[in-house]
Amino acid sequence: MANQEIVNRKIVLRDYVVGFPKESDLVLISNEKIKLVVPEGSENGVLVKNLYLSCDSFMRDRMSKDCSYISPFTPGEPLTGYGVAKVVDSRDPEFKAGDLVWGMTGWEDYSLITRKDPLIKIEHTDVPLSYYTRILGMPGMTAYIGFMEIGSPKKGEYVFVSGATGAVGQLVGQFAKLMGCYVVGSAGSKEKVDLLKNEFGFDEVFNYKEEQNLEAALKRHHFLVIYFENVGGKMLDAVLLNMRNHGRIAACSMISQEHVQNLILVVTKSIRMEGFVVFNYYQRYQEFLEFTMKYIKEGKIKFVEDKAEGLESGPAALLGLFTGRNIGKQIYGTYEFGKPFVVPLLTLFSPSVSSGRMRYYFLL
Ligand SMILES: NC(=O)c1ccc[n+]([C@@H]2O[C@H](COP(=O)([O-])OP(=O)(O)OC[C@H]3O[C@@H](n4cnc5c(N)ncnc54)[C@H](OP(=O)(O)O)[C@@H]3O)[C@@H](O)[C@H]2O)c1
Repeated sequence: MANQEIVNRKIVLRDYVVGFPKESDLVLISNEKIKLVVPEGSENGVLVKNLYLSCDSFMRDRMSKDCSYISPFTPGEPLTGYGVAKVVDSRDPEFKAGDLVWGMTGWEDYSLITRKDPLIKIEHTDVPLSYYTRILGMPGMTAYIGFMEIGSPKKGEYVFVSGATGAVGQLVGQFAKLMGCYVVGSAGSKEKVDLLKNEFGFDEVFNYKEEQNLEAALKRHHFLVIYFENVGGKMLDAVLLNMRNHGRIAACSMISQEHVQNLILVVTKSIRMEGFVVFNYYQRYQEFLEFTMKYIKEGKIKFVEDKAEGLESGPAALLGLFTGRNIGKQIYGTYEFGKPFVVPLLTLFSPSVSSGRMRYYFLL
């Protein structure tokens, strides 16, 4: 088997994208054959078979040459992103064939991973493996570090989460409830508002697209102690007006990229605002895992997943994340294209949303 050559299909970026990405910017190629062994000279290489690949917002930036967040993708090379995989062969003493791992991998059937940042062995297989692309992976870790570390919550505190139905926001809200906080969220459609209130237990949610005055919308929900920032711009301006003195802001993202006018209030209200990048905290993964697994096993955390099947469905799934084209399914249990799959215990349904920033991963 090791010497046998097999086709390794890949999804590659045709060329750097200018403007909005299109499905045709991504191409499935199947002209490469590989042997299922780590090649000579690739010391500490780990060859994996990819099982789940995740579509994440930051991947859009990486299609552009001017990506400022992390390095851009290389045209002609497979996209890279978070995934779950099984080790096929390893020259790294930390991993052996058969191990299940999650971390940065390629959009291809098999990947040779030489830079392991992060590549984390999966120890708990009593939850669906797909969880390691979400609740037990990067988005979960982001919610945990941003809220538990930077937000530093105490029982009874008022918390606001923007972008609350995102993979990160939905967990922040639930962590906040578990810590005994009062949680307010904002979302961009009625379906999302209902989801947050009825399924994720947010105390109050408002549809920011329907509010004429964000400051007034926030004022209805008491003065805030902690703000988990995903949006920036007008939302941040309104939040600053409604923060208590000595409040805390965990700056995860500023998706809107709008100008902020009220930043002086950080000074006058003695607000502590701290940005963070989750990549710098993976050494705390075990701590996060213990914290989160406990609540998963107790059935106290819920999570929405949306799946597509097959490497070939990756481009449409990724573009659907940016355009909303694939949205509108509201299905209980798992969302599959045709074939039965292990039912994730806590997967509820794919929310019907209109704004197009759904989460996808696809299985191979
Ligand atoms: N700091 C870090 O280390 C780190 C780690 C992971 C992710 N991130 C970033 O954190 C953000 C949240 O991550 P995620 O995975 O939860 O993203 P996501 O699933 O794509 O969700 C983002 C949410 O933001 C809302 N949104 C998008 N554009 C908006 C706008 N212009 N104004 C207001 N709301 C807007 C959307 O909800 P509506 O439809 O309701 O508008 C969407 O649900 C992303 O920007 C991501 O890149 C940062």
